[in-house]
Amino acid sequence: MTYQNDLIIRAAKGELVERTPVWLMRQAGRILKEYRDVRSKLSGFKELVETPELAAEVTIQPVDLLGVDAAIIFSDILVVPEAMGLTYEMLEQKGPHFPKTIQTEKDLDALIVPDAYESLAYTLDAIKITKKELAGRVPIIGFAGAPWTIFSYMVEGGGSKTFSKAKKMLYTNPTLSHTLLNKITQTTIAYLKAQVECGVEIVQVFDSWAGILTEEQYKEFALPYIKQICDSINSVPVTVFAKGAYFVRKEIAALNCRTIGLDWNMDPIESRKIIGADKTLQGNLDPCVLYSDFKTIERKTKEMLDQYKGGSHIANLGHGVYPDITPDAVRCFIDTVKAY
Ligand code: CP3
Repeated sequence: MTYQNDLIIRAAKGELVERTPVWLMRQAGRILKEYRDVRSKLSGFKELVETPELAAEVTIQPVDLLGVDAAIIFSDILVVPEAMGLTYEMLEQKGPHFPKTIQTEKDLDALIVPDAYESLAYTLDAIKITKKELAGRVPIIGFAGAPWTIFSYMVEGGGSKTFSKAKKMLYTNPTLSHTLLNKITQTTIAYLKAQVECGVEIVQVFDSWAGILTEEQYKEFALPYIKQICDSINSVPVTVFAKGAYFVRKEIAALNCRTIGLDWNMDPIESRKIIGADKTLQGNLDPCVLYSDFKTIERKTKEMLDQYKGGSHIANLGHGVYPDITPDAVRCFIDTVKAY
């Protein structure tokens, strides 16, 4: 495939680039009126995820409307537990909910390691359509949740401030925990490989609840599974974003990944020292900066870019963009990176 714009692939590989590439986590979503319009004609979020033509449409929207250097396929990390046998609901204003959760050996036995091409065909089809429609304008980022983050939803049953049910499981039943984490990992590897097969050029692993764990727990229950994923995806660059896990940056740097995502609490200069010169860093502007006036957004974005000077960098926020941030504020961030 030849690209009109392959900045992000080259930056991920650590090659020299003319300018820093930029995209935003959660760029395909509620910040755009055009997304809300598509979504409002449907029964809900899941119908959008499961309708490949529409998922492709909202994947491409931020490329057209915001000018980002990559598309991220429109889906959710929760399609993986669903494919394994645990359905989720996306409750309006409340977020994800699992009517059934994993508590016992018996619950776990009922889960399958599915064939991604069957159970997750809708996202794979969305990738193929997006690929065709983008026609090389920008690359597509594929993704999955990290095993610990998926585990936490499957045990907890939804979002939580503490994820104490999921953490309790790690302390009280480590054997069951490892078996579940292993099943999730096998499913995730097969799914990510299928995404690559269908046309994604970068994959990102989202460990959104990494920071909930202690360092000891992270090393036992999270890292080894992310390592398996990194070791299995060899044909495209892998990004690991472990939000809040500042305490394992050195260990993540040792993984077979190309890019490491930083959240807004991880200092870029300190992170570069810990991680070393070889990896590409991604991040890490506080999403709330985008609530400021344009002058402040521009200044804060430049200050952020200054901190990554001299190393390979993909500009992004330190977490997903919030739904009530205006597209103009997002464009100000993107345009500042492009003009830098
Ligand atoms: O633009 C993109 O980033 C691509 C699509 C994408 C979505 N979810 C769409 C979505 C991606 C990459 C995700 C990943 C995801 N999903 C994560 C990891 C990233 C992170 O934010 O830490 C997590 C933890 C989830 C689980 C999830 N999905 C939650 C907690 C919620 C509810 C909170 C919220 O933002 O509303 C979702 C719903 C969701 N996933 C929406 C979108 C656009 C909003 C639902 C809607 O449109 O009605």
